[in-house]
Amino acid sequence: METKILEPTKENIELAAKVLADGGLVAFPTETVYGLGANALDPVAVKKVYEAKGRPSDNPMIVHIARASDIGQLTPMLSADIVNVIDNFWPGPLTIIVKRKEGVPNETTGGLDTVGVRLPDSEVARALIEASGVPVAGPSANLSGKPSPTRAQDVIDDLNGKVDIILKGDDCRVGIESTVLDMSAEKPMILRPGIITAEQVEAAIGKEVGYDPTLNVDPRDMEERGDEFKPKSPGMKYKHYAPKAEMLIVEGEREAVKKEINRLRGLNEKLGNKVGILFFEEQDFIEAAHSFFAELRDMDKQGVDIILAGALSDVNGVGFAVMNRMLKSAGYNIAKV
Ligand code: TXA
Ligand code: MG
Repeated sequence: METKILEPTKENIELAAKVLADGGLVAFPTETVYGLGANALDPVAVKKVYEAKGRPSDNPMIVHIARASDIGQLTPMLSADIVNVIDNFWPGPLTIIVKRKEGVPNETTGGLDTVGVRLPDSEVARALIEASGVPVAGPSANLSGKPSPTRAQDVIDDLNGKVDIILKGDDCRVGIESTVLDMSAEKPMILRPGIITAEQVEAAIGKEVGYDPTLNVDPRDMEERGDEFKPKSPGMKYKHYAPKAEMLIVEGEREAVKKEINRLRGLNEKLGNKVGILFFEEQDFIEAAHSFFAELRDMDKQGVDIILAGALSDVNGVGFAVMNRMLKSAGYNIAKV
């Protein structure tokens, strides 16, 4: 397939919207990561997304809308808490899991009776969805298993020739995917951490918000304990975000971590390995989120053999969300110092 790579001008957004409405695939920028869009109500279009990404079909898609009121097309009921969350965090990097309406196809929800909905903050994204006139299923626009795409070139590297249009917008502001907040059960729970934290949601709804207990836990440890590793978000169980390089996370007190990374760098370079270092400032988790995936992709392009990463110590904020991606990228390969 020939992919058109287009600047997101008004005319091109309209062209792309028409392609979406006609069942085609359009990759587009959002404030979190680039998305791969298809008409969420068209099972044939959604199937093409799974094919283009090489994604397991039980992994549900987030449905993107352009106006908050459009959530009514997807869910039969909105609790006061849900309305509150919408008022506080939309448009923005927060996906809400709600009960789904009959008309939302199984292909979109991975067969679940819930659906994830997001109103993005990105103007290009909203203009595209609005002009298409349909809700837009939008997983991250990467090949399944690879680091998420935060720059147009990342999308081109993964999906050129596999989709109809790539809208070549700016680099993504946030850099990690949206927070996924389950509001379909009694107790609100974060299934995927992002830059909107449980604490912020708690402040908005005046209710306790939990984290899925499987988050940031090595599945092998759970199996050893005899616990079943069953995250509520199907996507969280897959191998994810992996760079081509081997990756090791070094965890411990900051100075000790720095020393150990330098020691391992020296050893590896003596062996002739090309070493990449990921060591973010602890004070600036937002910056860590912004550059995490981009750095992984850049190191792959530079032919790095081994990535040594310093663990972030944050236990429930934005650093925790970055650690969630880091742990998966490294296959939970951790050295404690
Ligand atoms: O920031 C984002 O959310 C980006 C941009 C493009 O909007 N999209 C994105 O989609 O990250 P994706 O498909 O790569 O990740 C969606 C995650 C998966 O972990 C999936 O399992 C979970 O959301 N999810 C979607 N619908 C769900 C549902 N009904 N119940 C539980 N988890 C759900
Ligand atoms: Mg993804």
